[in-house]
Amino acid sequence: MIDKAKARERMVELAESVKYHNDLYYQQAAPEITDYQYDMLVKELEALERDFPEFADPNSPTKRVGGEITRIFQSVKHRYPMLSLDNTYSESELSDFDQRVFRILGEPCEYVGELKIDGVSISLIYRNGKLQQAITRGDGVQGDDVTANVKTIRSIPLQLLPGDYPDEFEVRGEIFMPRAGFEKMNRQRESEGESTFANPRNATAGTLKMQDSSIVAKRPLDAFFYYLLGENLTGETHFQRLNFLKSWGFKVNDIRIKAQGIKELLNYIAEVDHSRSQLPYDIDGVVVKVNSLSQQEKLGFTAKSPRWAISYKFKAEEAITRLLSIDYQVGRTGAVTPVANLEPVFLAGTTVKRASLHNADVMAGLDVRIGDFVHVEKGGEIIPKITSVDFSSRHGESLPVTFIEHCPECKTQLVRSSGEAAWYCPNEKGCPPQIKGKLEHFIARRAMNIDSLGEGKVEVLFEQGLLRNAADLYLLKFENLLGIEKILPQEDGKAPRKVSFREKTVENILKGIEDSKSVPFERVLFALGIRHVGETVAKKLARHFAGIDAIIEAKYENLISVDEVGDKIAGSIMNYFSDAENLAMVNQLRIAGLKMRIEEENIIQRSILQGKTFVVSGVFSGFSRDEIKQSIEQNGGKVSGSISSKTAFVLAGDNMGPEKRKKAEELGVKIISEEEYLRMLEI
Ligand code: IVH
Repeated sequence: MIDKAKARERMVELAESVKYHNDLYYQQAAPEITDYQYDMLVKELEALERDFPEFADPNSPTKRVGGEITRIFQSVKHRYPMLSLDNTYSESELSDFDQRVFRILGEPCEYVGELKIDGVSISLIYRNGKLQQAITRGDGVQGDDVTANVKTIRSIPLQLLPGDYPDEFEVRGEIFMPRAGFEKMNRQRESEGESTFANPRNATAGTLKMQDSSIVAKRPLDAFFYYLLGENLTGETHFQRLNFLKSWGFKVNDIRIKAQGIKELLNYIAEVDHSRSQLPYDIDGVVVKVNSLSQQEKLGFTAKSPRWAISYKFKAEEAITRLLSIDYQVGRTGAVTPVANLEPVFLAGTTVKRASLHNADVMAGLDVRIGDFVHVEKGGEIIPKITSVDFSSRHGESLPVTFIEHCPECKTQLVRSSGEAAWYCPNEKGCPPQIKGKLEHFIARRAMNIDSLGEGKVEVLFEQGLLRNAADLYLLKFENLLGIEKILPQEDGKAPRKVSFREKTVENILKGIEDSKSVPFERVLFALGIRHVGETVAKKLARHFAGIDAIIEAKYENLISVDEVGDKIAGSIMNYFSDAENLAMVNQLRIAGLKMRIEEENIIQRSILQGKTFVVSGVFSGFSRDEIKQSIEQNGGKVSGSISSKTAFVLAGDNMGPEKRKKAEELGVKIISEEEYLRMLEI
């Protein structure tokens, strides 16, 4: 190990270097080193922080990986209320605004035009250049403290660049998810059988409210800032303030202008509207602000919004076209979605041929008929939707539609549970898209990782009758596979795809299947595709029960005692294992050699800490945080993310958060050190 002085020096150097490259990558979009080189810097810093926790900076760039769990988001009162903006939708309303401003000021003014980013607004508090707190808008008066999650967003500075910033200030901005990252995330979620988000804004809002910040760290969130607040701030114009923000390290959107009057603003609005479909993120309009801060002050605020700003919202792009027919698609879970086939129409940069009708209620509410002319809109959603029927052009021949009663794939009668919008095909084991969907989930990278098989090959093997469930995979033989060939038709007029099982292909497939036998139990459990059992829940169940038999036998009370398992998940697990065919399949998988227990080192070894809940905070010298948590669990204890009256001990390392200490003291929870913990275990 290197000596302390050297370590300290290197840690400062590495932290600086990582921050510098972060800035180049996330703010300037001009990286100087490869991702690999960057990862190596971070890894070296992480290792040193582990070895020398006494020098670890709580605002170190390594803290971006998250890990802090927030059980309940604390409600915090905003020091300055978070107001909203008045909306306009037309030139004449914008011109009314301009006249109102002129009347109050008694002189002309300069405006700034900015993009109205379609995300979630956030208020950040900085003290002495360090990010202290991040609060959501909430009701404008008080919002939720989402600091742990916001700290994982790499383009938000934890420590400001050297500059003349005030000791304390607030900065407001918008957190959003770029379209490309959103689509990638949704595709991945879909392949894992998780529900997808309707649009980037919903994905952003959902992500900010997640309890586990290490999941937030993996989501592609980004942010732009547009408003500085505080006492004794310098600068005479809003535009200058934006430049200050930029120089301190905040990301400020560059598509902004200074405008001398309404005409220039309208040109800017038209340009933005024209090119907005090309932007890498969603916007829903343009914000117009009076540039001079003294003029802003003179204009003041109404109860709800500033008089010096207004938002000009774009109308959602819309087109009218004819509804040709309705298809019904069956997903992996059996949910049936109606999809409209439309006469192709150009809308917001693409040709639209299909639009979602969501579910039976939406379809009935629209009173849509085949042959009708319908309004199609592309809002925040990626898939266009039908918003209304043009009744004036309805002709005698249009045909009323009723939602289908039987599955379009397997003809089973559809069911709908009370309170649910979707109709389901209950034939889980016999309905082709459901069977294929389950197989695709089983072989997915994060499940059994049999990547030598893919969607196309699964489809062919299913059609050949060789694959009916996951256990069949382990019965596949070289001679049954070799030589199979099939041409698969593709959707949307794409050329058909030929899938052929040549010698090399078959060898790879069989090797992939063989290798999957060493996949750890928690992933096998996830791969089974039990509804609502995602990766995290599978891991928690595996840790808790150690093996499949205990899960099969678990009673409802045992299941819901597991972290993150509630009524819905427990019900789904019990339902899955009450089915004889599922049990038989699990048994076949066991016989095939799949892991049905967790590795020895993860098993609870002793029950010395039974019934005791620990909260772990700070950095430790002999363990990483994950190791110490594992040790607690192996000794029968429970780890929780937040302190409550149920907490037995707070295990405190160096740099434990002052808030946690205060909370523990208030509730009278005992705080113990690493040494005391080890003595408790008598190691
Ligand atoms: S200024 C006091 N500028 O729009 C006014 N807001 O309806 C502060 N937004 O809550 C807001 N982009 O979440 C401003 N360039 C921008 C914006 C923007 C998006 C959001 C923000 C605000 C909402 C107002």
